[in-house]
Amino acid sequence: MQDSDCVEFLQWVLPRLHRRWPGFRKVRAQVCKRIDRRCKALGLAGPRAYRDYLEGHPDEWEPLDRLCPITISSFYRDKAVFDFLGCTLLPHLARDAHERAAEDLRALSIGCASGEEPYTLKLAWHFHVAPDYRQISLHIVATDVVSEMLERARKACYPPGSLKWLPEAWRTQAFEPVAGKYCLRAAFRQGIEFIQQDVRAALPEGSFNLILCRNLVFTYFDEGTQQQTLEQLLTRLSTGGALVIGRHETLPSRTGGLIPWPGTKTRGIFQRR
Ligand SMILES: C[S@@+](CC[C@H](N)C(=O)[O-])C[C@H]1O[C@@H](n2cnc3c(N)ncnc32)[C@H](O)[C@@H]1O
Repeated sequence: MQDSDCVEFLQWVLPRLHRRWPGFRKVRAQVCKRIDRRCKALGLAGPRAYRDYLEGHPDEWEPLDRLCPITISSFYRDKAVFDFLGCTLLPHLARDAHERAAEDLRALSIGCASGEEPYTLKLAWHFHVAPDYRQISLHIVATDVVSEMLERARKACYPPGSLKWLPEAWRTQAFEPVAGKYCLRAAFRQGIEFIQQDVRAALPEGSFNLILCRNLVFTYFDEGTQQQTLEQLLTRLSTGGALVIGRHETLPSRTGGLIPWPGTKTRGIFQRR
């Protein structure tokens, strides 16, 4: 399949799926490959024929939507963000929980891919915060719409490239090498619950002190879907809690009581007043 045919197809199809072409522009190869495979499975000559097919087969929009998730991730993705989480934000939340005599903090990672993001959070908690707050536990809920990603997350074994941003000392203490991969030791997998969920349709129950929604909603979905999802996220974020979005993302226009986290220049970190 020609790249230009795929681009033309995506520019036509993405707005109809409430998605944004600019989010896909640089990473489209992953989706183009799946579209190519889908065309072959349907016996179609290419994206133009697929477009005609979609016009006559409205049921095909659902399988097409499932071809769109971009699943790129890595441990400690965006150093400035995880440095801030580990050194400032998590200790702040822990101190606040301690003052309230609370025993739990709850964090939500939406679009968690193969677990890189929630496990990085767990490691940041373990190495930066837990030694000072033994009486408080961090419970993490992590969701993704793609079941294969969650299967990989539960296995928690990664190619070396996924760990390249992780502090070296964390890698050696938290992972063991197994058959050319790095597998997270059992102690670091505890306290994390993985749930298959489409963020456009549902969110885990309960309220959360920290929500990570990075490199998903505010990159790939259109303004209307971003706004609706943000409103839903705010129903799950506790007062004083933090919402973290991707470094290159911006929030839609109505931000419902969120302010940039006081005292930080790191982009994409907000506090709920
Ligand atoms: C680009 S990755 C980002 C992973 C991680 N948050 C990060 O920043 O490294 C986006 C993830 O969101 C998932 N995803 C895509 N659409 C979704 C949806 N509608 N609901 C939940 N997860 C979704 C993808 O499967 C993928 O694992």
